[in-house]
Amino acid sequence: MSPKIKTLRMALLTFLLFLMTTSLRYTLTGGDVRVRIVIDSTHKDFGPPPELATLLSTSVNHSSTGRDVIHSVNTLQRSARHEFNSRAIQVFRNQLNSQVHTAEIFILTQSNTRPGDRIPYYRGRGGYNIDQTLYSLQPSKMAAGGDIFDRCSVVGNSGILKDSGCGREIDGTDFIFRLNLFPTLPKFADDTGARTHLVTCDGATLSKKFLNLGEPLWRQAFQNYVTNSRYGPVLILTSPFSTRDHTQKLLDLQRTVHQQRMRPTVVLGHPVHWNATVEYWNRAGLGRTMSNGFYLVSSALSLCNKVTVFGFWPFTEDKQGRHVDFHMAQNVWPHLSHEQSEESLDRMRAEFQMLLELHRLGLLRLVTDPCRRIPVIATV
Ligand SMILES: *[C@@H]1O[C@H](CO)[C@@H](O)[C@H](O)[C@H]1NC(C)=O
Ligand SMILES: *[C@@H]1O[C@H](CO)[C@@H](O)[C@H](O)[C@H]1NC(C)=O
Repeated sequence: MSPKIKTLRMALLTFLLFLMTTSLRYTLTGGDVRVRIVIDSTHKDFGPPPELATLLSTSVNHSSTGRDVIHSVNTLQRSARHEFNSRAIQVFRNQLNSQVHTAEIFILTQSNTRPGDRIPYYRGRGGYNIDQTLYSLQPSKMAAGGDIFDRCSVVGNSGILKDSGCGREIDGTDFIFRLNLFPTLPKFADDTGARTHLVTCDGATLSKKFLNLGEPLWRQAFQNYVTNSRYGPVLILTSPFSTRDHTQKLLDLQRTVHQQRMRPTVVLGHPVHWNATVEYWNRAGLGRTMSNGFYLVSSALSLCNKVTVFGFWPFTEDKQGRHVDFHMAQNVWPHLSHEQSEESLDRMRAEFQMLLELHRLGLLRLVTDPCRRIPVIATV
């Protein structure tokens, strides 16, 4: 083989290796030239600081059964009173943000993209070209502008919240994250609260519940959803760039809600942020897929001082062995609770163990018991 061909082959090999090892390496430059973000998940320092990563990853046992995990919840609760560790929270948040850049790329904004950009799909090849119209529908920057909220709630939809009486505590926090268009109807308010600042909406749920927003009937159904939830949502977070499957439907949702001047603002999750978040927690022992719920918790840790997590319970029994519905609103909207595959349940159980460890470290608070009711003082 001639030396020339050898060199060529080497060059090709190096290039291929480069492609393989840099699959998650981004440089983003937005319309605002001051925003320049480089994320390199191949860097050895990517992920939580090593001491923390070790601690977190040893807390996740992928072969633990549901009963094992419930047992460790009980042990943890008996052993110590929970306290937020403000100093640790601050250090952790700064480190997390330096890697996943939530303040800049949590959602698509006019500061982190411009017309002509190609937004990569999270799963699947290629990307979506941002045109002038789509660009004009995006907020100019993150609403909070990088400010930190003091107390936040991330509210999962597990039936564990039934009769929990946690609504008042949830509603008392400064920013409330919810999942998958949870219907905050008055009948749930005692247990889940009524206010919502941000709620996620995935493509599958949108299709099942509201089918076609182009049709007046379905638009009305969506409008009802929005008005029935009296105190929100303010933001609806969708992920049109996770796969190609629901891209158009979710972009249509944004356009329709905007055109109809409905109250909430639909915002688009940035796939690069999702990817960076998944990679970050992968370094701490989670797999390479993540539930929307854990993603919201991670984002809340980026944006808030004190994060309390409610309604996360990926088990079919409570601590006393009583049945727990998978979804709080199972009876109202049966189609809300899709069948969960064993795989996604396993994943949620691993994530739950991670939450438990974060709770133990005082980085967040995980509520798995009914909330203490403020006693009504009898008037004489
Ligand atoms: C993980 O859980 C399984 C099942 O309960 C248990 O047998 C095993 O010892 C655990 N592994 C570790 C490292 O704790
Ligand atoms: C996300 O990361 C994976 C590798 O972990 C990569 O294959 C995929 O292209 C990335 N997605 C985006 C949107 O960059």
